[in-house]
Amino acid sequence: MERFNPRRLKLAAVLVAGAAVLSACSISRLPSNPEIPTSSAAIDLVRNGTWAIAGVEKADNSLRVTPTDLAIVEQDGSPREDNPAINLFGTHIDRKGDFSVALKVSDRTGTAHITLGTPPLIEDEFRAELGTLSLTMNDSTLEVSLSDQTAGKAYAVDNLPLTDAPEHILALAVTDDILTVSANGTTEKITMQVGDTLGKSIWFGLDAREGAFTIDAFTVQGEHNDTVATRSANTTIPKLKHGLASLVETRRPDMKLGAAIAPGPLVSEPKYRELLGNFNAISIENAAKWQFIHPAPDVYNFADMDGMVQAALKAKQKVHGHALIFGEANPQWVQDLAGNPEALKQAAVDHITTIMKRYRGKVASWDVINEPLADYDTDPGSYGLRKNIWYETLGPDYHETMLRAAHEADPKAELWINDFGMEADGERFQQMLDLVDRLRAHGVPLTGIGFQAHIDEGDTNTTDTHIDVTMLRSRIQELEKRGLRARFSELDISNASEHAVFSDTIRACLGEKACTSVTVWGVTDKYSSGGDIDQFGIFHPSDVGLLWDKNFKATRGIEDIRRALR
Ligand code: XIL
Repeated sequence: MERFNPRRLKLAAVLVAGAAVLSACSISRLPSNPEIPTSSAAIDLVRNGTWAIAGVEKADNSLRVTPTDLAIVEQDGSPREDNPAINLFGTHIDRKGDFSVALKVSDRTGTAHITLGTPPLIEDEFRAELGTLSLTMNDSTLEVSLSDQTAGKAYAVDNLPLTDAPEHILALAVTDDILTVSANGTTEKITMQVGDTLGKSIWFGLDAREGAFTIDAFTVQGEHNDTVATRSANTTIPKLKHGLASLVETRRPDMKLGAAIAPGPLVSEPKYRELLGNFNAISIENAAKWQFIHPAPDVYNFADMDGMVQAALKAKQKVHGHALIFGEANPQWVQDLAGNPEALKQAAVDHITTIMKRYRGKVASWDVINEPLADYDTDPGSYGLRKNIWYETLGPDYHETMLRAAHEADPKAELWINDFGMEADGERFQQMLDLVDRLRAHGVPLTGIGFQAHIDEGDTNTTDTHIDVTMLRSRIQELEKRGLRARFSELDISNASEHAVFSDTIRACLGEKACTSVTVWGVTDKYSSGGDIDQFGIFHPSDVGLLWDKNFKATRGIEDIRRALR
């Protein structure tokens, strides 16, 4: 779909405004002799900040940044874009207005990325900048670019030359809505109109590519009587006394009501945290998928998952991990192991073992296998299985290897297989039962089956079109006969007329002891997987999908649920 693109308008406005500013003001606020400020007003983020970010190692007086290879792949596995890590759960700053930042970078052997701004919206096919200033130090240039959601990707880009000096001092200042950047105090400076792109709360990102670098100093201070304060992440999820989960608990104390969550909104949106108080369980929406949590063979990126797990446990929410083995969201290095069964199997077992051991006693349940059945539009392998890298390289029994490794890593964890199209499609559900029966015949540990329940009435390609309470209950009973449980794992809708699917699904689960939980796939449409990004990097949220709309307004689905639970 072609969408209106305000980017060009904005770019033109920036150019005009930039030119006007250049001629109208003298931009000499930055010291010509580059120094890192030492005044008491300057906050030292190296010494006094906390850094919970992949690839960043804190020494006494410096931060060492090494490559993580964090990137987002296309669904078909082809490379898409870098996904520089952000210090979401460490220190960020709140500013009143004008401020400045100074950085000293040394020992650089590759590209250094430094970002400032609002946490981006990260899904597993794209990253949408919500307001980011990005500084990229290449061989001989410092590239400065600004992105936000009114203009899309990089609405303003400019470069400064960098010498091959062993260290560089970068200084930036925001005065009213003008950003000035200089390197090493040279007279050449970049000036850009920044408006409110950066927001009042600013998170920092550090990312190295093809080489490492060191940050010897990183200071920030308020300017022109405006103040800056450091903050640690607020991840407090209030328990809502009359929230939805409380109602479920009254009816079925053993049943959970969950929501899938993302780290960016958790730390940056107070309203999001408040709405999360409606739930007594969470699922990790994307952060535990392979490309995010294990981007390179020797690199694990646990920071975001750790932060979410900690927040949930503090709020006494049960945590569900998603998804250890999946045909999608696999980083390039894993895809490169296709056709090499020994190495791929070893990588998978290490992956499962390392992650599950880390979260033993914290993450109660895992989707060990996600989407093993063939998609509607793909050619199925034997038993109707999806021909993904696991099937192709390890054969149709790969599930057994993975589930056994998972059980060994955390014998107490619940182990699930999760898939879509389980709700209305008889053939597909039967294929899942057949898989389950093959696994049971071999004594493979398995807790149950997750029904994703992405319901779309208008989707003619799939059968995920409706919720039939009677049918769901009989399917849960089929699983129960086999000693297994069921969970509704990713409930959302893509059709406005279907708000009742939320309450109907909850009703089906309430009535069956073997059904452990209902989880909605996100909290608000503002950040939901129903949204899409256009070619300019602008995210367009869906108008319907979750219990709260894109303005955090409660939808009819909530009233339905309350009624169903009365
Ligand atoms: C979705 C996420 O919600 C999005 O953010 C991402 O861009 C794509 O994946 N089935 C699954 C989930 O098992 O992992 C998918 O989640 C939705 C479909």
